[in-house]
Order: sequence, then C-alpha cells, then structure tokens
Amino acid sequence: MFRITQYMQELKNPTPLGPKRQPPGPVVIWNLIRRCNLACKHCYSISADHDFPGELSTAEVYGVMDDLKAFGVPVLILSGGEPLLRPDIYDISLRAKRMGFYVGLSSNGTLIDGSNIDRIAEMGYDYVGVSIDGLEETHDRFRRMQGAYDASLRAMRLCRDKGIKIGMRFTLTQDNAHELPALLRLMDDEGIDKFYLSHLNYAGRGNINRKDDVVLQTTRRAMDLLFDTCWDYVSRGVAKEFVTGNNDADGVYLLFWARERFPQLVDHLRAKLAQWGGNSSGVNIANIDNLGNVHPDTFWWHYSLGNVKQRPFSEIWRDTSDPLMAGLKRLPRRIEGRCGECRYFDVCGGNTRVRAHQLTGNPWAEDPACYLTDEEIGASGARERLAVSPYSRRAART
Ligand SMILES: C[S@@+](CC[C@H](N)C(=O)[O-])C[C@H]1O[C@@H](n2cnc3c(N)ncnc32)[C@H](O)[C@@H]1O
Ligand code: SF4
Repeated sequence: MFRITQYMQELKNPTPLGPKRQPPGPVVIWNLIRRCNLACKHCYSISADHDFPGELSTAEVYGVMDDLKAFGVPVLILSGGEPLLRPDIYDISLRAKRMGFYVGLSSNGTLIDGSNIDRIAEMGYDYVGVSIDGLEETHDRFRRMQGAYDASLRAMRLCRDKGIKIGMRFTLTQDNAHELPALLRLMDDEGIDKFYLSHLNYAGRGNINRKDDVVLQTTRRAMDLLFDTCWDYVSRGVAKEFVTGNNDADGVYLLFWARERFPQLVDHLRAKLAQWGGNSSGVNIANIDNLGNVHPDTFWWHYSLGNVKQRPFSEIWRDTSDPLMAGLKRLPRRIEGRCGECRYFDVCGGNTRVRAHQLTGNPWAEDPACYLTDEEIGASGARERLAVSPYSRRAART
C-alpha cells in the first residue's frame, strides 16, 4: 500500500528521516467468508452467492485471533466475500476491537442499510472501506448487479453520518478509468475521508479478465490526477487521505511528479520513499483466506504457505523453508528483467510479484504493470517487455 498523502506532507512540512520503524507483525487481511451477494468481474476471491464448505468456525477464528495478537499483529482487515454475510461478524468484530486490534471492515456496502447501521456503528470499526468502481452504470455492470451503486452510496452516507471513517475503494481498469475525475468529485461532495485506488491484480476473475487492465499510459494519467488532487487538499490543509495498492511504481512516479514541482525536496522525498521500500507482501502484509490458508497477500490464493487449522499463523509466517516466502523476505529481493535493472529499485522493491507469476510462472520476473519507461528507470531496453497477454489456462496453472 502506498500512502500518497503521507509523502505529500513531506513536501509541505519535511520531517527528519529518523530510523526505519519495523512494525511488530504484519497487517492481516482476513477473508472470513467467500460467499458474496455480488459476483464482480475482477474479483480475486472468485466469490459467488453460495456457501463454501470448510470455512473457519467462530471458535477457530477466535483461536487464530489470539495467536495473531500474541504475534504482534496490529491491524485486522475483515474481508470476504462479503463479510457482513457471516452471521458471527459482529461477535468477531467486537472481540477484535476488545483485544486492541485496529479493525477495518472491507465491504461492498450493499448490505449496509437503516436496519443495521446502528449495530455497525456500535462495533467501533476504525475504518470501513466500501468499493465503488465507477459511476452508476459502470459500477453496476462491473459488479453485475443493478442497484449496487445506489446501495453502496447509501452505505457510505450512513457510515459517514454515524461518524465512521469511510473510504471509497476504486479498482482501476480500462473500462472505468475515464470516470476517475467524477469519482474524486463525488468523494469531495459526499465528504468521504479516504480514496483508495487499487490497481488491477492478476488473481481469480481479475486474472481471467486481465485483458481489461489499463494500458500503461492510462495509469500514468490516473496517477497524475490523483497526485494533483491529493496535493490540492494537502496544500489547503484539508484532511483527506489518498492511498493506492498493487502498484509500487506509484512511489517512483510520485518522485517524478515532485521533481517538476519541488526540485529542492526530491532528495528528501527519495530518502523517505526508500525507507518505505515498496512492495511488502509476505513481510508486512499477510492474508488468511476463508479456509484458513495463509498467503503472502490476498492475490496469492493459488499458493498456500500453510493452514491455520494445522499450524499457528505465527509459525507459518516465520517459516522461510518455503521458497516463495524466502524470496519475498530476502532484502533486497532479487528480481529479474527490467525491475532488476531499475535505478529506483530501492523505492519500489520490484513491485507486485503475483502479476509476474501469473504471466510467466516465475515469481521473480519483472512486473508487467510497471508504467515507467525504460528511459525513466535507466533500463537498457535491450529486451522486450513482458506484455499482458490474453488469459490462457496454461498461464493460470503456473
Ligand atoms: C475481494 S473484495 C471483498 C470485500 C467486499 N466484497 C468488496 O467488494 O469490497 C476486497 C477489495 O478487493 C478489490 N479487488 C477484488 N479483486 C481485485 C483484483 N483482481 N485486483 C485489485 N483489486 C481487487 C475489490 O474491488 C474490493 O475493493
Ligand atoms: S469484489 Fe467483493 S463484492 Fe465483488 S464479488 Fe468479490 S467479494 Fe463480492
């Protein structure tokens, strides 16, 4: 995750570099249920409106929570599927809050209405993220349900009016990129606290539909707009948060953005960004799926590191006998292709490994979604870039 606002604040009020802070444990994104009332086109969990057998019971969830707490996990993001479909979601949420976790709810919003908003407010969630993937028509097509947009907007309003910190989460594709300006205006008009732009990752239905991924030029335009919008708020001292996920080249691109506007602060910003270091799947980000399988992040469901029903998370997470885990935890990571040649590797860390894996079967190949040019990153350009080819069954198996 890349926190744009935090780094833009460094351009307004630079702070001393200081030592790098290592969080005590990873942020855990926990898909408590795979069932969902929607079946979105890009969904990494390939969720659908039926039950999936073998999911963790309430008691098993509690047992895992105790282990996570003892291991120093600071943040739980309760996700799915649609987490509000889990009958025990409120019990789990309250317990997590009482245990002192920072608790986020990741929801499509369609099930939040007047009948349950008080109960949701009682949970004391630190953050509720609602997905909005375009204006009404685009969103409903993408999420494959008429009326989804209206219901999700209603949810955001209800949460906002209860004083819950609310975020609008947008997954960028070639189909909805043109609506980003309107969504940023909507965020402002509706008084939404946070905007999260999720770059498409190649997992589940998002992998099957990866031909819909943005062309690299579209990503650049989207990021230009996001940076300009964020800076507008930061410079006016208005508290709005802008965050991106799944493309760590965003940190490098911000550096380019700053070079044009604040050349005197570029060295400072670069030092701060290098301290962040880019992709942290398998290090500071972890995922537990609905069956209890542990993954380096939510987009690795085709690769399990172990199952919490058999071994505690704390043990699985430290075990580097797994080659993927060993490679992700290696510092610096060894990445091939143009990522390996990149002069900004210290900032982005080689970006998103799962895209490389889905395309080539090699998790250490270059990330095809890096939208920086060879010239910008100092790569020779002697090799052909890895291109996003149409999905094939062979690619899915590797
Ligand atoms: C899997 S959903 C679960 C929570 C809830 N059902 C929702 O839609 O917000 C979590 C978030 O991941 C995003 N997402 C799903 N598949 C993705 C993919 N392939 N690439 C990037 N983001 C994705 C969704 O848009 C959503 O914001
Ligand atoms: S992205 Fe969320 S709302 Fe859409 S199908 Fe997946 S879990 Fe359901």
